[in-house]
Amino acid sequence: MVSYKELGLVNSKELFKKAVDGGYAIPAFNFNNMEQLQAIVSACVETKSPVILQVSSGARKYANQTLLRYMAQGAVQYAKELGYEIPIVLHLDHGDSFELCKDCIESGFSSVMIDGSHLPYEENVALTKKVVEYAHQHNVTVEGELGVLAGIEDDVQADHHTYTEPDEVVDFVTRTGVDSLAISIGTSHGAFKFTPDQCTRNENGVLVPPPLRFDILEEIEKRIPGFPIVLHGSSSVPPQYVETINKYGGKLSDSIGIPEEQLRRAAKSAVCKINIDSDGRLAMTAAVREVFANKPAEFDPRKYLGPARDALKELYMHKTEKVLGSAGKA
Ligand code: G3H
Ligand code: 13P
Ligand code: ZN
Repeated sequence: MVSYKELGLVNSKELFKKAVDGGYAIPAFNFNNMEQLQAIVSACVETKSPVILQVSSGARKYANQTLLRYMAQGAVQYAKELGYEIPIVLHLDHGDSFELCKDCIESGFSSVMIDGSHLPYEENVALTKKVVEYAHQHNVTVEGELGVLAGIEDDVQADHHTYTEPDEVVDFVTRTGVDSLAISIGTSHGAFKFTPDQCTRNENGVLVPPPLRFDILEEIEKRIPGFPIVLHGSSSVPPQYVETINKYGGKLSDSIGIPEEQLRRAAKSAVCKINIDSDGRLAMTAAVREVFANKPAEFDPRKYLGPARDALKELYMHKTEKVLGSAGKA
């Protein structure tokens, strides 16, 4: 058993309390490799933002769980070396079983998500409660989920959103003992969150997606005041990345994300953790494609992964400073 405390990590308890009270959200950025981790840590150190390093089960398989743990430990030391100690959480994203959560807790994760959102309600409660009971023995915080996001989640494809039912939240959080709750109010995973026919055009001809269901968020907040809320699927799919990708041989069409103003509004409420993965993938891909197109003779990975890392860092700094409001809060 490796405790996250030995690795210099923190759980999310205090961070969420401060974020809810302070009207901002902590970034939860997914990582699978060294360049992503370097970009996340350097961006968050430079903007003095707390950060959640988020690892999916796919990332765990891709990068190797032992390596990931040492990378997170390295991230803590790297932040110190960069000159500013920021709180760093290592979080399992979309854990789908008790065993996976237990394994992560025993290998140094300070926070886990148990995603029982696709299960019948009582099964979701039972599974989440089981994970919480184990996690809390080790001071590890737990995120549960109620409601189903449209799109792909945990290899399950949902055609439409099943919004979180505000009447269920009190029962769910009290019976399970979770530390935070992921909800469904109109966000979804990936780079294709809306089709153009779901959108309207503004005066500049830009496609504007339907707004998030802030009415549901408000109802949830009324029932569990101050309780930490999590938003998954919160990439904004910046058009400049999509344009660059397509300009240099990519083929992404109709990719539309969550407008940043909506995320800013959510961050000011009890939403205290905002998950962003796809925007980072787009930023990296755009940078790599640009190098390949402009320098076809280049074959040193540092020459294309370096620019990808720079683009990522810029993106993450923008998120902490201009979208989530977590800059300066470390
Ligand atoms: O919510 C899913 C995250 O974007 C992780 O995606 O399972 O492909 O690593 P992944
Ligand atoms: P995006 O696909 O919108 O980046 O969402 C990521 C996420 O929710 C990870 O859990
Ligand atoms: Zn997610």
